[in-house]
Amino acid sequence: MTLAVITGPSRGIGRATALALAERGIDLALLGRPSAALAETVRLAAERGVSAIPVDCELANPAELERAAERVLDGAVPDLLVNNAAVIRRAPIEQTSLQAWNEQLDVNLRAPFLLTRALLPAMRRAGRGRIINVGSISSTLGTAGAAAYCASKWGLVGLTKSLAEELSDSGLMTVAILPGSVDTRMLEGSGFAPRISADDVARTIVFHCLDAPLAHNGGVVEMFAT
Ligand SMILES: NC(=O)c1ccc[n+]([C@@H]2O[C@H](COP(=O)([O-])OP(=O)(O)OC[C@H]3O[C@@H](n4cnc5c(N)ncnc54)[C@H](OP(=O)(O)O)[C@@H]3O)[C@@H](O)[C@H]2O)c1
Repeated sequence: MTLAVITGPSRGIGRATALALAERGIDLALLGRPSAALAETVRLAAERGVSAIPVDCELANPAELERAAERVLDGAVPDLLVNNAAVIRRAPIEQTSLQAWNEQLDVNLRAPFLLTRALLPAMRRAGRGRIINVGSISSTLGTAGAAAYCASKWGLVGLTKSLAEELSDSGLMTVAILPGSVDTRMLEGSGFAPRISADDVARTIVFHCLDAPLAHNGGVVEMFAT
C-alpha cells in the first residue's frame, strides 16, 4: 500500500492531484476543513478504487495539524506528503493587516513545516518518502499586492532546499513545484489570465511522487505556460 497525505484537496490543484494519485492506485489522507467540496473529492477518489479518508484540519492551527498528523500515523506511515494548500489575501503592504500577514505565513509556510516535522520521523524509519511542496512562480519574483504570499512562497523554497540537504542519502526526497497562473479559484481576481491547467500541475506532482529518480532531491520545478 502507498499512502499520500495531501493538503488542500477540496478543489483546484489539490483535488486534481488527489484524483491523479488515485488513478495510480495510491490511498489518500485528505487534510482539510470539512466541506461539501472536500466530501466530493473523497467520493471521486473512492470511485477510482482507493481508500480516501478525510482528515479534519484547519492548517492555521498548530494543534489541529498535530492531531491530524497523529490520526494519519495511527493508520499507516505515509509514503508521500503533498503540501499543497495555500491562501492569498491581496493588498498593498500598507494595507496588509498583521492578521492577514500571519494567516498567509501560517497556512502557506508554517503548516508545511509542522506537517513535515510531524510525519518525517516515521517516514525516515520506513526508509522511504517524498515530500512535495507546492510553491509558486511567486517563489522567484515579487508581485505588487501579494507581499505576504510571495514571502511565504520564497520561504517554502528555502524550507525545501534545507530539507533536501537533511535528506541527502536517506532514501527520501523533497522537491518544490512552482506553477505560474493556474486555472483555479485562487487565480480569480488576480488580473492574470490562466496559462496552465490544474491537471498539468497534478501530473508534474505525481511524476515527482512516483516516477522521478531520487536525484531530483532539492529540485525546483518552474512551470510557466503551455
Ligand atoms: N492558482 C494559481 O494560479 C497558482 C499559481 C501558483 C501556485 N499556486 C499554488 O497551488 C496550490 C493550490 O492552489 P489552488 O490554485 O488549487 O488554490 P485553491 O483552488 O484556492 O485551493 C486552495 C486549497 O487550500 C485549502 N486551504 C486554504 N486555506 C486553508 C486553511 N486555513 N486550512 C485548510 N485548508 C486550507 C482550501 O480549502 P477550503 O476548501 O477549506 O478553502 C483549498 O482546498 C497553492 O499552494 C497555491 O499557492 C496556485
